[in-house]
Amino acid sequence: MITQKLEKYVKKLFLTSGYNIDKVTVNVSNRLDLCDYQCNDIFKLSKIYHQAPQVIGSNLLSNVDEELKKVFSKIEFVLPGFINLTLSDEFINENLEVINNENLGLKKEIKEKFIIDYGGPNVAKPLHVGHMRTAIVGESIKRIIKFMGHEVIADIHLGDYGLQIGQVIYGLEEENISINDINIDTLNRIYPKISNLCKEDEKLKTCCALITKKLQDNDSKYQKYWKKILEVSVSDMKKLYDYLDVHFDLWNGESDAYPYLKQVEEILQKKSLCQESQGALIVDVKKDTDTKEIPPLLYKKSNGAYLYASTDLATIFDRVNKYHPDHILYVVDNRQELHFEQVFRAADLADIYPYNNLEFLGYGTVNGTDNKPYKTRDGNAPSLQELFEETKKIFISKKTSNEHMAQEDIDKIVNAILKFADLQNSREKDYVFDLNKFSDVIGKTGPYILYTYVRINKILKNLNIDVIKSSNKIYNDIDRKLRLKILEVPEVINNAYKARKPVFIADYIYNLCVLANSFYQTNHVSTASIDKQQNWGYVLQLLNRVIKQLLNLLVIDIPSKM
Ligand code: ARG
Repeated sequence: MITQKLEKYVKKLFLTSGYNIDKVTVNVSNRLDLCDYQCNDIFKLSKIYHQAPQVIGSNLLSNVDEELKKVFSKIEFVLPGFINLTLSDEFINENLEVINNENLGLKKEIKEKFIIDYGGPNVAKPLHVGHMRTAIVGESIKRIIKFMGHEVIADIHLGDYGLQIGQVIYGLEEENISINDINIDTLNRIYPKISNLCKEDEKLKTCCALITKKLQDNDSKYQKYWKKILEVSVSDMKKLYDYLDVHFDLWNGESDAYPYLKQVEEILQKKSLCQESQGALIVDVKKDTDTKEIPPLLYKKSNGAYLYASTDLATIFDRVNKYHPDHILYVVDNRQELHFEQVFRAADLADIYPYNNLEFLGYGTVNGTDNKPYKTRDGNAPSLQELFEETKKIFISKKTSNEHMAQEDIDKIVNAILKFADLQNSREKDYVFDLNKFSDVIGKTGPYILYTYVRINKILKNLNIDVIKSSNKIYNDIDRKLRLKILEVPEVINNAYKARKPVFIADYIYNLCVLANSFYQTNHVSTASIDKQQNWGYVLQLLNRVIKQLLNLLVIDIPSKM
């Protein structure tokens, strides 16, 4: 990574000048008009060595040797205590070559095993815009981790054993619908109907909860209903996830944790971690150091029913035994943070899995322009299917020629619109869902990125020369800026990986595309001299390789035309 390399050179400069600190830090300059990179460590040196920054500065400058001159075309000291670094063209070009490979210049990490839990849809309920967020963010994080060389197991963790199943079974029985007649339309009709009735009718709700409890206790009739509901609902979900290019290795659910609930309960008992409270079983997870109230985890209700926390704890138990993961990650709505805090603490206390290897990666709400969770005019959250259709319509309405695009390309663009909109927002923040804005070809949008890629590809196709294998010349300022930006890519991916934040990649790719656009507006590649065409061809080829790889990490596929 480029900053690491630069840090080594600057450290060398420090040492030869008689200064030693453990960690030298070099960052991309925030004044690109003045220099490319910057080091602020002189302030530290000044404190340690009791010398004025200016003295240190001039000492350093007098020790710049031939090797450093090859790397830096300019090293300056500026008050109050910065080192401004300008890279030599030669060094820039050499390092572009390092990026020009499959890993974009990244060294693979020592392989670890990750389990990532995302998607988490509830069986028998239609998927809506919120489910898209966990699917996209989760899939992107999965791809980033894999790109770093790790093994990742993706688990959808279906909500497949909750109250909604009891509600649907109740509705089916009430309407005398036989098991074989259950299809997705039945589910889409019955679930909202009964769930709405339950809101006003406590008795009905209790009745549905009883059905759910019997199902969990293996009642054979309800099990048959449940299996069919699961089959119908999951096959419908699969179509939507396929459309989003989101893939899971495990289609497990809460129900898969049931065989381990008793065992986990025994562990909790044996370690004296649980207490009885009004007939229920609770685990105290608070700590003396807590600054806010952490209520106990409710493991079992007084009627013997298990809950969301119990299945999540038992799921960890199951995952650890089957897969021995080094990390387990959860991409879940921010509003579930407390739940996971309780579960993680309990897992740690019970020695099931260490707290530090469990990560809650919360995401914010998708809001309407009123800043409330996004709803259509009828007051409901639109289903994912409706959302895809709506996006398609808006995209087509933007330009008449869009209508004639291949269906496959339109689908890819719909994906890019929705995914880039989502991933360019930091996952933990809420964002306002504005399809019209997201589908514009101008602005920080998916179509803008795709358009840039397709445009560059066209330029490359029109070149009638063989592109050289490395470049030795930089012709102008925008050319230089673009190359410098490309050099940042390994670091960007690494940062996204460490923070589990695809937004770093989305931000970067946008900035890269802005530069690419001004590059080809300034530099008319097709009419340039052969020499320039060869050099620029090399840079543009590398640029598109970078964009394509990064789009893949953002779960975005490129259409053949735009
Ligand atoms: N089904 C849950 C919900 O709709 C999300 C599941 C998240 N994952 C988990 N392991 N609890 O809220």
